[in-house]
Amino acid sequence: MSNKMWGGRFGAGPGAIMKQINQSISFDQRLYQQDIAGSKAHCAMLAATKIILQQDADKIMVGLDQVFAEIEDGNFSFSEDLEDIHMNVESRLTEILGSVAGRLHTARSRNDQVATDFKLYVREACDHIDGQLAELQMALAKKAERYADAVMPGFTHLQTAQPVTFGHHMMAYVEMFARDRSRFSDARTRMNESPLGAAALAGTSFPIDREMTAKALGFDRPTANSLDSVSDRDFALETLSAATISGVHLSRLAEEIVVWCSAGFKFISLSDAYTTGSSIMPQKRNPDAAELVRAKAGRVAASFSGLVMVMKGLPLAYSKDMQEDKEATFDALDNFSLMLAAMSGMVDDMTPDRDRLEQAAGQGFSTATDIADWLVRVLGMPFRDAHHVTGSIVALAEGQDKMLHELSLDEMQQVEKQITEDIFTVLSVQSSSQSRTSYGGTSPTNVKKMAQGWIKRLEKEGKPV
Ligand code: ARG
Repeated sequence: MSNKMWGGRFGAGPGAIMKQINQSISFDQRLYQQDIAGSKAHCAMLAATKIILQQDADKIMVGLDQVFAEIEDGNFSFSEDLEDIHMNVESRLTEILGSVAGRLHTARSRNDQVATDFKLYVREACDHIDGQLAELQMALAKKAERYADAVMPGFTHLQTAQPVTFGHHMMAYVEMFARDRSRFSDARTRMNESPLGAAALAGTSFPIDREMTAKALGFDRPTANSLDSVSDRDFALETLSAATISGVHLSRLAEEIVVWCSAGFKFISLSDAYTTGSSIMPQKRNPDAAELVRAKAGRVAASFSGLVMVMKGLPLAYSKDMQEDKEATFDALDNFSLMLAAMSGMVDDMTPDRDRLEQAAGQGFSTATDIADWLVRVLGMPFRDAHHVTGSIVALAEGQDKMLHELSLDEMQQVEKQITEDIFTVLSVQSSSQSRTSYGGTSPTNVKKMAQGWIKRLEKEGKPV
């Protein structure tokens, strides 16, 4: 028995502790597909370059297929004694084939093997995420098209600022997720070089063909420096940073959904599909899915900064510290994918309340800027003066507890005698939003055009399922 205070769990002493801290099979078993694909590419190359005999390669290929089938069918028992996925697969291959299995590891190391497997995994995740982001964009663009003319308050400092449309608000996120997609796509392009053949760290004396394995695994080319190949995880960091930034976007939308669902706002409602009831307050419908998207953004960011901390200060080339790259990355990507699925579902599911949005849009003197713009446009006032006059009109309305359109022409003329009846045409929230036709502005015509343009573009891409 080891230490009396804390050693209870480690009854078998240092050997058991070492095994537990050293193993990665409990979490890297999910790399079996990539591991076997990498081994098959390597094996075919070893035969093509005559480093091993074709007949041995044929046997190894069949053996690898068998191992793959056993894992897929759940007939494989992973062993902690064999540390990781690479040794688990190779050991089973040896059980099946005998000593010929040992030829597979010629001109290779677990260091280039794990870098390859992990890169293949992260690359696949980027592709999957891109499809999910496209699906979310589609849900947002469709909602935007439908509510292109639903006027709502636009906020700055969460104070009512100017009327915008619900569609415009949705389209803001379509743009954010477009940039997120381009970040994942940049990361994918940069990571798409094959580390296989870098071996332990120095390359190999065997006449391997790295172009061949790179091509077989869908990489654009082999990596150019063997030390770099086995010692960097920047591809994972870059992907997690893209997920962190996109997570921030998701979290902001989630926060808005939470606020919009609350009794003080009531801008939207969500169905039972994305809400839960309270065990004590029967009237409650809690936006749990949105809250969890908001929270998980923190979790993704934490995985990113965790991996940054693992990597900083590591000397070249491989260090075992790098085994800690996987759990953080898997957890972040799993959760990010779930966040995207939940957000697409919620956007699809949400029903904006047009009346409530419009009513809220008119509060807080939201069309004050339209008065100032009218004074500039019709009376030719400098904007700064117009701003001042408008301030006095707002103060008048506020003092009488009226909305701007409820003031009489007489009252307005007390502030500025040149004001005419025509000013009332700009005081409604509709006319305010309709007037903002500048490129990228909130006018319903603009929003509809943007939404339809995106829908067409996304349909053409054919990404959303
Ligand atoms: N399981 C290890 C990892 O995930 C594989 C590489 C091990 N290499 C070594 N030299 N011990 O990083």
